[in-house]
This record gives sequence, C-alpha cells and structure tokens, in this order.
Amino acid sequence: MQIHLAMNPVPVAAVLRFSGDGQDGVPDTSLAEWQTEAAAVSVYRDRQPVLLVVGLGDTSKVDADTLRKAAGTALRRVEKEALASVLVYLPGVLDEEREIEALTEGMLLGAYKFDRYKAKAKSAVLQDVYLLAKADHSAALTKATAFAGATNLARDLANEPPNVLRPATLAEFAQRHFADSNVEVTVWDEARLLEERMMGLYAVGKGSTHPPRYVELRYQTDATLPLVALVGKGLTFDAGGISLKSGRDISDMRMDMAGAAAVIGAFAALVTTGAKCNVVGLIVAAENLPDGSAMLPGELIQYRNGVSVQVANTDAEGRLALADALIRAHELGAKYVIDIATLTGAAANALGTKYAAVFGQKQLVDQLCELGEATGDFLWPLPLPPEYESQLKSDYADITNIGKGKGGAITAALFLRHFVDDGQAWAHIDIAGPMEAERTEGYSPAGATGFGVRVMAEFVVHYSSRDE
Ligand code: BES
Ligand code: ZN
Ligand code: ZN
Repeated sequence: MQIHLAMNPVPVAAVLRFSGDGQDGVPDTSLAEWQTEAAAVSVYRDRQPVLLVVGLGDTSKVDADTLRKAAGTALRRVEKEALASVLVYLPGVLDEEREIEALTEGMLLGAYKFDRYKAKAKSAVLQDVYLLAKADHSAALTKATAFAGATNLARDLANEPPNVLRPATLAEFAQRHFADSNVEVTVWDEARLLEERMMGLYAVGKGSTHPPRYVELRYQTDATLPLVALVGKGLTFDAGGISLKSGRDISDMRMDMAGAAAVIGAFAALVTTGAKCNVVGLIVAAENLPDGSAMLPGELIQYRNGVSVQVANTDAEGRLALADALIRAHELGAKYVIDIATLTGAAANALGTKYAAVFGQKQLVDQLCELGEATGDFLWPLPLPPEYESQLKSDYADITNIGKGKGGAITAALFLRHFVDDGQAWAHIDIAGPMEAERTEGYSPAGATGFGVRVMAEFVVHYSSRDE
C-alpha cells in the first residue's frame, strides 16, 4: 500500500470522510445515519465510489491520536471491503500537516499484519491511498511513513517466535538491516563478553544453548552533538531461569526483547529520515532458561564498575543485563541515556497496557512525557523515593536484584540507577504493559505494538541536536 498526496480528487474505488459530533461539513447530510461515534465506520456500498464515513466523536476532543485510531480502524475496513484505492478527505480539525502525519501513521500502523507463517496469507487488495490536501505536505508524509515503517519493523521483531529469533539472530538482523546504511553495528559474542567483563549479561545467558550477544549500534552524523544512548532489553525468551515462571501461559515472554526491538526501530526511523544526530544503541540479548549451567539464586555478579550484586531471583534478569549496557553508556560518554525494557509485571499492574512507566531525571522525564503524548507512545512518570533503596540491601553484596517490599517497578528502576553516572541525564521506560496489544484496536493490531520507537526517535531529533 502506498500513501500519496493529492491536490485534487482523483478517480478511486472508495472515498473516506470523517464526521464528528455536530461538526459542520459533515460528509453528506442526505445520509440518514452518518457515523459520529469515535472510530466507528459506516460503509455506503450503493454509492459510486463507495463511501466510508468514520466517526471522530466529540470534535473538541480530537487530537493526533484520535486521528491515528480512526485512520487505523478505517483502513482495515477498506481492506475488508476489498477496495483497491481510496481518496481521503481530511477532517479539518487540526492543522493540515498534523492531520496528514497522524492519518498516515494511523493507516500504515493499522494495516500491519504479522502473517509470514500463515500458509494462506491474504495479499493486500488496497494499493493506493490519496490524502486530499490544500498544500504540499510531502515532508510530513515522508516522516510519518518512515516512523510507521520503523514501528512496524519493531513489531516484526517482537512478534517473531522464540525458536526463530535467538540472541544471535537478533544481532545478525541488526547487522543485516543496517548493512548499507550509515549505522555501524558491532556484535560481541560470549567470549568477548567475558573479556569485556560484561558479567551481568553473561550470567543471564549462560543457562541457554543459544548464547548471549551484546549489540552496539552507532549513528553519528555530527560527533560534536551531545551523545544519546538508547539501551534496550533483548531477552528473546524469559522463562525465569532457575526461578522458573509457572502457573500461566508464558509464551508472551518471546516479546521480552521488545525494548531491543524499539531501539532498532528508532535507529531505522532516524536513518530513513536522515536525522542529524549522535546516537548509540546498546542492546543486551540473551535467553533466560533453567539448566545445569544456568545462573543460580544466591549467585554473585561482580560488575566492572565495582558494584557487586546478589542474584536473589533469576527472573529479575533484565536489570542484571541492562546494568552492563548502562556502564558501557557511561564509558562511551553519553550525555542522555534512555533505557527501554519489558522489565516488571508491577509496571503493567500499575498503569495497564496504554501507558509505559517512566523514571529518572525530572527534565528528561518531562520531555519524554510530552513527546509521548504527541507520538502516541504514552508515558507516565513514577517516583524514585530514597526510602525504597533499603529494599535492595544484601547481606554479602552491595545490592540484590529484587526489592523486598512493594513497588516492584520502582525498585527495579532504583537498581538500574546504581549503574548510571550522576553527570548523565537518565530515563528508564518500563514497557511491560504496552509491549503487546491483546486485541486489534485503533492502530494496534493484536500482537507486538512497537511501543517506544516513535517517542525515542522523536527525542533524538528534538533534543540531541542542540547542546544545552
Ligand atoms: N520480563 C519480565 C517482566 C514482564 C512481565 C514483562 C510480564 C512483560 C510482561 C521480567 O524479567 C520479570 O520476570 N520480572 C519479574 C521481577 C520479579 C522477579 C522481581 C516480575 O515482574 O515478576
Ligand atoms: Zn524475568
Ligand atoms: Zn524478563
């Protein structure tokens, strides 16, 4: 499917219009029951071209995300009706450029399918979408296409089954994907991890026959710009290790690399749009499995920044692996550090599936929350109370890897902070909730959401390009 801009109506199989609650310019007042309910679609098949009317609800409340959702839902309907081309009239509620960006993203994200393993995958009927605009907004169209494509790339990775995507496969994917671009990709195997004393990642991955990998991406168009580090948790499967997960279907733990996928997606967005920036991606990839050689509860990990950790629970593995990447981010001289991880069930319990939890330096957190609202990667801040620090006390190491009390998302973030330098602006994003959509809705088809790609890429574009 290709999205184009059109300055005049073109011949098409279908026309798509938006209608709001009591809004002027309703598509066609002769229609008895035009749809006003948000993201509900009415189809008038007896018309030529076929007319689709998409509700926007209360137009005073319409924002970019309302349009993304409506566009995603509408697009799937166009597909279902087997219409090959569609002309879209802009709703005219926001400014034209923002509408084009939101509609483009919503349609490309809403049309996403992960059907590569289906014998009878349906080929798409819809070929061309024309957005009817008054002015030439091709820059907005290009950007939105790149950002949606990058989000869909992250979805592809996270949706991949765990017997297909192993730590080494994830690393090879990054190498292959960026081979002909300005992104430099370095991969460290398990022998190199030991040499470099990346002991957390090494310990997490040692119980699997598929060894861990550390992947470093570098995209530097201007080395004088402040360095941003994007750190991603890349557990291609998390069975819990010796502290084995039990009592529920844990097949969603194939998506425990959604943070790594978001980092790769953010790089794809930056490269495709030719962003001017200075950014590194640090990905820790491993499989957390129980085995005779697996990490043991009670085990001690000695990190290369001098911090020692008691492994109280092998299922709190993400923070153990991320610690190595955070140390590395400091060594590389990163001014901004954003880590993104499917880290705790507690974050999902607190905020549900729509919002990710964000922790860290106030200014950075505020900036991310604002960009989150704009991009649809919604973030909500949680505190880092010093009182909870005592939950991480260990009898024989500096800290343990699980908090002894309540507030598991917070103690996980406090754990990570032990590996961040005071001079860095750091934020931690816990995406355990929004990593997956349980059912198809708006612009998120059921499965991996690609959460974090757009907010991180947007951050790099906005803030790394100016040194404060
Ligand atoms: N990958 C999980 C967290 C998770 C849970 C992500 C559900 C997405 C959905 C993480 O490694 C984990 O197991 N966390 C434990 C920590 C606990 C042992 C302190 C958790 O949240 O239960
Ligand atoms: Zn775990
Ligand atoms: Zn995990």
